[in-house]
Amino acid sequence: MSIALILLAAGKGTRMESDLPKVLHPIAGAPMLIHAVRAGQTLGPERVVVVAGHGAEAVTAAAHDYDDEIEVVLQTEQLGTAHAVAQARVALADFDGDALVLYGDTPFLTQDTLEEMAIARARADVVVLGFDAADPGRYGRLVTSGDQLERIVEYKDATDEERAITLCNSGVLAADAQTLFSLIDAVGNDNASGEYYLTDIVALAQARGLTATAVRCDEAETLGVNSRAELARAEALFQQNARAALMAEGVTLHAPDTVYLSWDTIVGRDAEIEPNVVFAPGVTVESGARIRAFSHLEGCHVSRGATVGPFARLRPGAELAEDVHIGNFVEIKNALIDEGAKVNHLTYIGDAEVGSRTNIGAGTITCNYDGVMKHRTTIGADVFIGSNTMLVAPVSVGDAAMTATGTIVTQDVPEGDLAIGRVQQSNKPGRARKLMQFLRAKKAKQQEGR
Ligand code: UD1
Ligand code: CA
Repeated sequence: MSIALILLAAGKGTRMESDLPKVLHPIAGAPMLIHAVRAGQTLGPERVVVVAGHGAEAVTAAAHDYDDEIEVVLQTEQLGTAHAVAQARVALADFDGDALVLYGDTPFLTQDTLEEMAIARARADVVVLGFDAADPGRYGRLVTSGDQLERIVEYKDATDEERAITLCNSGVLAADAQTLFSLIDAVGNDNASGEYYLTDIVALAQARGLTATAVRCDEAETLGVNSRAELARAEALFQQNARAALMAEGVTLHAPDTVYLSWDTIVGRDAEIEPNVVFAPGVTVESGARIRAFSHLEGCHVSRGATVGPFARLRPGAELAEDVHIGNFVEIKNALIDEGAKVNHLTYIGDAEVGSRTNIGAGTITCNYDGVMKHRTTIGADVFIGSNTMLVAPVSVGDAAMTATGTIVTQDVPEGDLAIGRVQQSNKPGRARKLMQFLRAKKAKQQEGR
């Protein structure tokens, strides 16, 4: 059965109090819309259609940034959820299969639940996802009779008796796409909100002799985000699940609650993550690597057996080969650090290559930026870079070369050579003692004068 996802994402999200469209607020580094799309993509849909309205340009850009095959259609006026789904009709005019309606602000549906809905479609024309609410509040209520879903009634339009129902509407539903559009044609807006309610299609289906049924899921899965507080709660929930998933896969987290993961973080078995580590998007850490406390990683790759931190920063394009050591207060950006190399203290390596087994001394800086352009530094294998070396890029240091401490490298260093570029030292006999006496006398005189 082919599936098309229709994601409603046109609403303003007034309660976010934001210039950013609600569905673009991030959870674990990805817009919540993308979480919703990914949830739906677990069913392997043929088409993905996003209905955008408020901030449509930004929503389109974010959707295409993730997957440029996502189709975006516009809902210029938000006249209700049925009207929103209807905007996908033209895009799906030639589509033969099921439509699954999802929401850009409902990021946590699971594959199991969506598969259960797909299975339920074998016994009903319309399948609605419901949940037993601890506090049903203002959710729409599912009116059932046995296995049949009779209709959905919105809170505003419900009688006291209907409001007593605790089985609530998540809004997620599945039906044959063309049947769905034809049911939506019959939806009116004569209700308490004056909106075209998608929920009305259930009663309309029953009236046409079609069948509808409800599938239940856990309330946490249908968690919607309407405010910054709910966004924070969604983030916390994501983090909790992601940490648990890593541990289940064999990753040691010393203090799980202090480790922050991104939607796409990958960590191999037997890797060890110390407390207070942040993984921004785009990080892979291989088996057996160790990320020590207070490190920040983004867009980088850490190979088997490597150690990072404590207090290290790996920025986009940092690529650490096996058994590399990156120590405290070291920043690596867009640089390949080859097998067994060590960069242990107070160093910046950017736009560079560092060869195997090379040792970079404390306080080394690749001076990669001239104020206008970035330049590369290439350091060979088995090199010893002395402490406080400034490598003024573009520059290269050959295999097995050395730089003396404090050297400012402005010319290439050939293989096996030692570069020394620092002011010659000269000692002035007895001068320190004399200078000290002079300064003490001067201070004493000043104090007498007061
Ligand atoms: C809807 C359901 C309600 C359900 C609840 C679950 C209807 C009529 N009601 O109510 O039964 O319990 O969701 O959260 O469907 N949207 C558009 N364009 C529109 C209207 C809405 O894109 O014209 C989007 C919104 O951005 C939002 C979603 O659809 O993400 C739901 O719309 P909203 O108006 O919040 O519906 P509820 O009143 O919460
Ligand atoms: Ca509404």
